[in-house]
Amino acid sequence: MQNIVVLISGRGSNLRAILEAIDAGLPLRVACVISDKPAAAGLELARRRGIASRVVEHRAGPSQEPPDQRAGFDHALAAAIDEFDPALIVMAGFMRILSAGFVARYAGRMMNIHPSLLPAFPGLHTHRRALEAGVKIHGCTVHFVTEALDNGPIIAQAAVVVQDDDTEASLAARVLEQEHRIYPLALRLFAGNRLRITGNRVRFAVGGEVGFAVDDTAVNQNTNFPNLTT
Ligand code: GRF
Repeated sequence: MQNIVVLISGRGSNLRAILEAIDAGLPLRVACVISDKPAAAGLELARRRGIASRVVEHRAGPSQEPPDQRAGFDHALAAAIDEFDPALIVMAGFMRILSAGFVARYAGRMMNIHPSLLPAFPGLHTHRRALEAGVKIHGCTVHFVTEALDNGPIIAQAAVVVQDDDTEASLAARVLEQEHRIYPLALRLFAGNRLRITGNRVRFAVGGEVGFAVDDTAVNQNTNFPNLTT
């Protein structure tokens, strides 16, 4: 069973979805949950389940921090991660931009979920910006992390239709439902050793079954996933 470490900053609903998928048979183990915010609700969820947790705090926003302080944070975070020797680092609502050195250290071993159909709307306030732009389709993306913000090789995307009466909150809620679906699926492909990165593209290698039952008809309706039974 491969270990993963999950990085969070807040409520931890994606963490919860991942843990529920593991309960349902996804063959990964959350070895530790690390937050940069001591008050993150997701930490409590980890504690309740007896999962190790760590807080690695930073004092100011990245733009106000001198480079040595940023490097200090990244160094402390890497030390906390390496204690658990994870096969994969899973960023789930971790609101922190990491240095190039940090990203290089974990190249191909770090995933993120972003609440838009990348490359549209990288950065913050994605749902508001989607409504302002008047897009008809919005969604979420799981991708490998590279140095450029929200720009790494895309593993999975799911789309939602923007309704005329959508607000930022209603759109965010529908996208979040999809996040909770595609992150476990991306992790399932990782666990089955089916992800191959070539340049900026991720291909799904044909592999064996990894013992995680899903309804592929529903799964494939509005995502880019291959038929997961093949
Ligand atoms: C999610 O929308 C995620 O895509 C974004 O931050 C939010 C985190 O939510 N990066 P949660 O903490 O997983 O509930």
